[in-house]
Amino acid sequence: MDEVRLGLVGVGLRGLNIRRYAESMPALQIGAVCDTDPARLARAQQELDLDPAACFGDYEAMLDSCRIGAVTIGTPMDLHAAQSIAALQRGIHVLCAVPAGVSIEECRELAQAARRSDALYTMAENYIFFRECLMIEELVARGEMGTPYFADGEYLHELKGLNERTPWRRHWQTGINGITYGTHSLGPILRWMAGDRVERVTCRGSGRWHLDPRGAVYENEASCVALCSLRSGALAKVRVDMLSDRPHATHNYQLQGTDGAFESARSPQEPHRVWLRSREQTADQWLDLEEFAAELLPDWYLRHETVAREAGHNGSDFYEMLHFLECVRGEAEPRVGIDVALDMTLPGLVSQQSIASDGEWLAVPDSRQW
Ligand SMILES: NC(=O)c1ccc[n+]([C@@H]2O[C@H](COP(=O)([O-])OP(=O)(O)OC[C@H]3O[C@@H](n4cnc5c(N)ncnc54)[C@H](O)[C@@H]3O)[C@@H](O)[C@H]2O)c1
Repeated sequence: MDEVRLGLVGVGLRGLNIRRYAESMPALQIGAVCDTDPARLARAQQELDLDPAACFGDYEAMLDSCRIGAVTIGTPMDLHAAQSIAALQRGIHVLCAVPAGVSIEECRELAQAARRSDALYTMAENYIFFRECLMIEELVARGEMGTPYFADGEYLHELKGLNERTPWRRHWQTGINGITYGTHSLGPILRWMAGDRVERVTCRGSGRWHLDPRGAVYENEASCVALCSLRSGALAKVRVDMLSDRPHATHNYQLQGTDGAFESARSPQEPHRVWLRSREQTADQWLDLEEFAAELLPDWYLRHETVAREAGHNGSDFYEMLHFLECVRGEAEPRVGIDVALDMTLPGLVSQQSIASDGEWLAVPDSRQW
């Protein structure tokens, strides 16, 4: 089996998570790591048991070292597009943390670089690998939801403290108004509405209610809501709130189709529930989605479930890496290739323009035209 020699850039909170499951993937070899913070680099070297020569403080030096054929990018959001482009230009495959970029212009440059490169670009939108999201995807594929026409995705993650430990968040997530971190909400929705894309967006906010520890008001309004009009005529609502004081609820979803409805659990104690016309229920009866797990979850999911659960984010990080390795080895087509990554990223960037224009409906560019 050919190994994929992987480089990691950005071994902070998220990037180093790979140590929890790397050994269980025979196709994965960690070839190098890079971080500009010497302490983070030293920790990664120790925890991943790497040769000092495989540790870099400079990203381009790692790319040019001939040690890696693929890279995972786990750096702050504003570095994602440029670091992806630098790898693609060298024929190095990319798995980049969300979102794909922080401006429409750099997303355009990324799309062009991905098209020119022989290497693969994928975005690490791991929420599509959540157990309940995969089950709903299968119900849609089987036609049991009918035609999906409304979806709701919410990312409610109070991170004022985390902002201070990872200061880039203070600007890129809570220092800009509108949807700054919307791919976890749109990701599964666009898998369920497969082949569809957001054509127009309007965005409003709920006002500014919180101060940072320095007494400055957060530029991001507490709850920002974008309405997304899809090409099919379907509607999706995305709410992102990283400031309000409340328990986390980072993967709240609803999906309504002509023949089925889904409402995700709003707390770990609740079930995910579905109503399906095909299951001959009365009109108002919900069923626990978990009852269908053995029937709906793919073999590759069930086979790795025990180790995946240890890996973080409900196993999604493990499955995402497994999928990336398959794509690099030519065994699968990427679920989140360049155009889908931008379908998930661009509506948020356009929402930032909309909220600045009093909620004006604005067109979302289609990267396939770039
Ligand atoms: N998919 C998910 O569930 C999920 C969860 C958390 C974070 N993320 C994403 O992952 C990324 C990292 O988040 P985090 O919480 O680990 O942040 P972090 O600040 O803990 O880690 C970022 C790391 O990048 C390093 N870095 C900064 N500039 C660099 C450069 N030029 N070259 C090399 N290294 C550099 C920093 O020193 C740091 O170690 C973010 O883009 C975030 O949006 C995704």
